Amino acid sequence: MMMQPLPKRGARPTMLLLMGVSGSGKTTTGQRLARKLGWVFRDADDFHPPANIEKMRAGVALTDEDRWPWLEAIGHWLDLQRLHGGRAVVTCSALRRAYRDKVLHGRSDVKLVYLKGSKALIGDRLSRRQHHFMPTSLLDSQFATLEEPARDERALVVSVSRAPNSVVDEIVRYVVPPHARLAKATIRPHR
Ligand SMILES: Nc1ncnc2c1ncn2[C@@H]1O[C@H](COP(=O)(O)OP(=O)(O)O)[C@@H](O)[C@H]1O
Ligand SMILES: [Mg+2]
Repeated sequence: MMMQPLPKRGARPTMLLLMGVSGSGKTTTGQRLARKLGWVFRDADDFHPPANIEKMRAGVALTDEDRWPWLEAIGHWLDLQRLHGGRAVVTCSALRRAYRDKVLHGRSDVKLVYLKGSKALIGDRLSRRQHHFMPTSLLDSQFATLEEPARDERALVVSVSRAPNSVVDEIVRYVVPPHARLAKATIRPHR
């Protein structure tokens, strides 16, 4: 695919990648954020090839070999969004640096947003919810795998200790310049 010229460094981002452990609120926050901005939303799970879906259904852990085509598909989708002017939010746990590099390398117009919460906070939140059971082993393995973004990844780090709308508003403040926020009560979709 032909690469589009990337916007200047320092420009407001038009595409966001929301990362964090399972239960950090990627789907909840991402959907609300996209709705508020009028941007397109996609969840990382949507990009798995059928073979990965089969494995996950069977309860078999994915290997990194399984993950590369999936991460590549997310990157290609972002390229497609750029052709349409950007305005997209995508989630991806992206726990390891290598996974983020796979999605973000050469795509400096995609802002990494890290939904940060402690194991205690997220464990407590999930255990309180009815119909939502997450084994402690999964939570443990998520935090064991997590490599928090390094400085050079220039992630926007957002604490998820507050309510979803408050998390969303913090990201909106980063994305939308103050005068644009004052001018419109709601932000209209760009397409
Ligand atoms: N900021 C928040 N405060 C309280 N509960 C939250 C918050 N964000 C998400 N949740 C709840 O935590 C659970 C996990 O959220 P979810 O969006 O599914 O996480 P992820 O997509 O990262 O796995 C859901 O039940 C959701 O309603
Ligand atoms: Mg999710």
